[in-house]
Amino acid sequence: MRVLSGIQPTGRFHWGNYFGAIRQYIALQNEDEAYYFIANLHALTTIRERDVLRRNTLEAAMDLLALGLDPQKATLFVQSDVPEVSELSWILMTITSRGRLERCHAFKEKKSKGLPADMGLFTYPVLMAADILAYDSNWVPVGEDQVQHIEVCRDLAKAFNHRYGEAFVVPEARLLPHAARVPGTDGEKMSKSYNNTIEVFEDVKAMRKKVMRIETDSRPMEEPKAPEGDHLFQLCSLFVDAEKRESLADLYRRGGFGYGQVKKMLADEAESFFAAAREKRAELEAHPERVTEILADGATRARRKARAVLDRVQEACGL
Ligand code: ADP
Ligand code: TRP
Repeated sequence: MRVLSGIQPTGRFHWGNYFGAIRQYIALQNEDEAYYFIANLHALTTIRERDVLRRNTLEAAMDLLALGLDPQKATLFVQSDVPEVSELSWILMTITSRGRLERCHAFKEKKSKGLPADMGLFTYPVLMAADILAYDSNWVPVGEDQVQHIEVCRDLAKAFNHRYGEAFVVPEARLLPHAARVPGTDGEKMSKSYNNTIEVFEDVKAMRKKVMRIETDSRPMEEPKAPEGDHLFQLCSLFVDAEKRESLADLYRRGGFGYGQVKKMLADEAESFFAAAREKRAELEAHPERVTEILADGATRARRKARAVLDRVQEACGL
């Protein structure tokens, strides 16, 4: 079975991205044939500065590799390095109804806020369908926000197959486990848009500072507290084993501790949790040519597959 997912290079990855998605992608590389790509064509709908897009794309690749994505096991590539996808996107566009796209949430949201929405944003789900269908993907691991887009993809694949014969593999969404909804420094969902993130490869000092500034309530030290529902506790839980987690929960229930003490523990744990990845990241940073090579190799493999699928599709529809 082939799994495929795309990651937008919209900035440095934060803890939410790692525990909510990237960690699962990396785990899947051992289970299935995995294709992962940096969705720079999609990012073009929001990042308008050439150098930023270019740098983010390379950095996203470095981050994924440093975090354990193994190019021997998974195929890692950049979306725009497979131009077949763009042609496929056009072909799919010709069978996409306008109403279907008008109901997609990314576009709907922008429109309802009166923000300018271009055709890139409007047709975003069609390009995403092409991404998936181009590699005969069976499973698409995504967060809940992307499920609607996978539905569009499935519908387009079925509509094409119905009209022209079985040309596409109809994929299925594989929802990433919900358990790891990572809270941000203010207790809300960690997200770039809320300015409450802690980045995976943040400078250690800056990371520690952000941890020490995590918002907490002002209950006195003596008071026992429920660990469940406490975002500082939830953040700690991401980094420690079951035993440490239990003893921290006990500490909460007993009371008589300061949040500062817990924050210090969180900072220490986070620092050592990512220490090896940080080292690997520095090594890649010093040798960007290695990363470029990995991406080129990934693109070659991905293109081979996409070419075969596009041939099949062109043949089916008379191009
Ligand atoms: P952001 O909200 O910061 O813009 P993205 O929407 O780019 O993050 O998320 C990329 C991936 O990371 C998605 O698969 C999403 O489900 C996951 N993710 C983002 N934030 C969190 C979070 N706080 N908890 C769990 N998963 C998250
Ligand atoms: N839209 C996805 C996101 O923002 C990224 C993406 C692009 C993607 N193409 C894809 C995900 C294909 C899965 C499959 O997270």
